[in-house]
Amino acid sequence: MTTPCRVIILGATSAIAQATARFYAGEGAHLLLAGRNTQHLHTVAADLTGRGASAVEVEVLDLGAPTDASAQLAVMAARLGGVDDILLAYGVLGDQTQAERDVALARDLLAVNFTSAAQWCLAAANLLEDQRRGSLVVIGSVAGDRGRQSNFIYGAAKAGLGTLVQGIAHRLALRNSGARAVLIKPGFVDTPMTGHLPKGGPLWASADAVGAIVRKAADAGGPVIYAPFFWRFILLIIRVIPAPIFHKRPL
Ligand SMILES: NC(=O)c1ccc[n+]([C@@H]2O[C@H](COP(=O)([O-])OP(=O)(O)OC[C@H]3O[C@@H](n4cnc5c(N)ncnc54)[C@H](OP(=O)(O)O)[C@@H]3O)[C@@H](O)[C@H]2O)c1
Repeated sequence: MTTPCRVIILGATSAIAQATARFYAGEGAHLLLAGRNTQHLHTVAADLTGRGASAVEVEVLDLGAPTDASAQLAVMAARLGGVDDILLAYGVLGDQTQAERDVALARDLLAVNFTSAAQWCLAAANLLEDQRRGSLVVIGSVAGDRGRQSNFIYGAAKAGLGTLVQGIAHRLALRNSGARAVLIKPGFVDTPMTGHLPKGGPLWASADAVGAIVRKAADAGGPVIYAPFFWRFILLIIRVIPAPIFHKRPL
């Protein structure tokens, strides 16, 4: 890793991404924040500069739109003079009930959470493999571990993304590429995405707690990291509950 660490954050206005970026800023990293809300990106950039980032670049774009992700990432990396870590953090929870009946809405949710994210991951993997170093860190979700009536459209996209990132991690490791990929699977995190849900209790984590896990994951571990760790055991149980029992639970 070079000094300062150079980091591209796709979806930098996300609360988890901001929390992660604050750890990088404290280390004096050079950051590029990509997202679609110009004002919010500049507010985050100012905050990170105040916290010690050596420099912060802003790239305004709709990450969910079809694009030449390889070319766009190459431009972003060039703005940093090279890249060490790439974090993909954006996502949309959507309204499951509405999306079940409105197939166009479901398609849009799948497109942003899976198709667009997949294009960025594939482009990032190629970039890191070609330069023979660096980490791709992708935020998936425990929702991808088993289809549940309450969020299976979002969950299906995260499951697909998770499989893709695991495959990328396998490829990078097998080829001794010097680069790596990690999938983070958070459980319940107190962020704007879950603003409509009642909070509290031991299963809820703060964006800061998950951000700390994401920052560590960029250096070591994986290829799949639950955040916090106890979700690995919860999901282990949820995955093996037999369907006749599972189908009686409104999870
Ligand atoms: N919060 C949880 O409980 C939880 C649990 C598991 C996984 N996750 C995952 O964690 C990641 C971060 O979410 P969060 O909890 O930090 O929620 P958040 O604060 O609501 O962040 C979501 C971010 O995604 C951005 N985004 C959505 N579509 C975009 C697009 N087309 N182009 C650019 N940016 C786009 C949003 O930007 P705008 O502000 O411009 O809309 C927002 O900054 C997501 O992938 C989410 O699925 C969250």
